[in-house]
Amino acid sequence: MTTPPESLADVSHVDCTDKIALVTGSTRGIGRAVAQALGRLGADVIVHGRDRDAGEEIAQSIRSDDAEAIVRTADFADPAEVRDLAHSVRSQTDGLDLLLNNAGGLFSEGRLVGDGIERTFHVNHLAPYLLTAELLGHLREGARVVTTASDAHRGAQLDLERPLTTDGYSGMGAYSHSKLANILFASELARRLEAAGQSVVSNSVHPGFVPGSQFGRFLPGPLTGLFRMLGVVPGTSSVADGAAELLHVAVSPSTADVSGRYFSGQAPTTPTAAARDRDAAARLWRRSAEMLGIEEPLADPEAPAEQQRSTS
Ligand SMILES: NC(=O)c1ccc[n+]([C@@H]2O[C@H](COP(=O)([O-])OP(=O)(O)OC[C@H]3O[C@@H](n4cnc5c(N)ncnc54)[C@H](OP(=O)(O)O)[C@@H]3O)[C@@H](O)[C@H]2O)c1
Repeated sequence: MTTPPESLADVSHVDCTDKIALVTGSTRGIGRAVAQALGRLGADVIVHGRDRDAGEEIAQSIRSDDAEAIVRTADFADPAEVRDLAHSVRSQTDGLDLLLNNAGGLFSEGRLVGDGIERTFHVNHLAPYLLTAELLGHLREGARVVTTASDAHRGAQLDLERPLTTDGYSGMGAYSHSKLANILFASELARRLEAAGQSVVSNSVHPGFVPGSQFGRFLPGPLTGLFRMLGVVPGTSSVADGAAELLHVAVSPSTADVSGRYFSGQAPTTPTAAARDRDAAARLWRRSAEMLGIEEPLADPEAPAEQQRSTS
């Protein structure tokens, strides 16, 4: 029997019985293992993905561990479905303690979705940005927002024109860029929450290289099978290892007050210079709101009006 993620993260003793968690992308892979672990720790879990049947199966397994679980489907390529998800969470719970922005994928074909935004950027970054914005007022005192990023951000530079076209599309390039956006988003969220005097923390996590999840299904043709086979290569992580990375940041007492950091190997680590660029993080924040046609969440009251309007 494999070691459960809560043991790998040394959080088996943490009592989550009064916690409510939303884990996006928990119908399979790393998110599924996190949702089940949170259920075993006693949390009520909202399971999310597009595949309702897979979600119901996970929810059932969580209920068999005496925790509450409901399933909410939403396609992150569609902003209306993200809003519906947020609305459903707000109306069916009286607050959220854990928001795990984990859903994501790598797409071999370039496609514009929503209001003309490239799909990878939309699913991996804009949707969690919108979901978080919609749920900010619903987060309880001491809540934690955890965003699943990746070391695949290494090599990417923020380019806010990139999501507006599929010309010259590269699946890996788009994925790296979206994972850079995840890190910038998580740190900018932390900065703005702190400036607003809120007790909520925000961090991003690299779960490791996890060939055992179903992530490889996004790759073209034979690469799917090849990706899975890499699971036997030393140095790769199991799904439980990947889930433990998220659990460490989501529920460990040792990380309760840590905010604005990027975690890897269950420790804060240093992402690339592009992922530490404060100006880039602020530009991404503002431009994301514009792309979605919403008011900037947690607007910085001290930022000059000109800067707030800037789209560069
Ligand atoms: N596996 C790795 O090596 C690795 C490494 C670094 C980072 N990550 C990150 O870890 C996270 C989880 O990936 P994983 O490896 O667990 O992959 P996975 O097994 O494919 O799971 C992905 C999850 O995201 C959901 N999802 C995908 N597209 C969606 C969409 N358009 N709308 C709503 N939900 C969607 C899926 O739900 P449905 O299928 O039900 O829609 C599924 O629950 C991702 O953010 C990924 O970028 C993975």
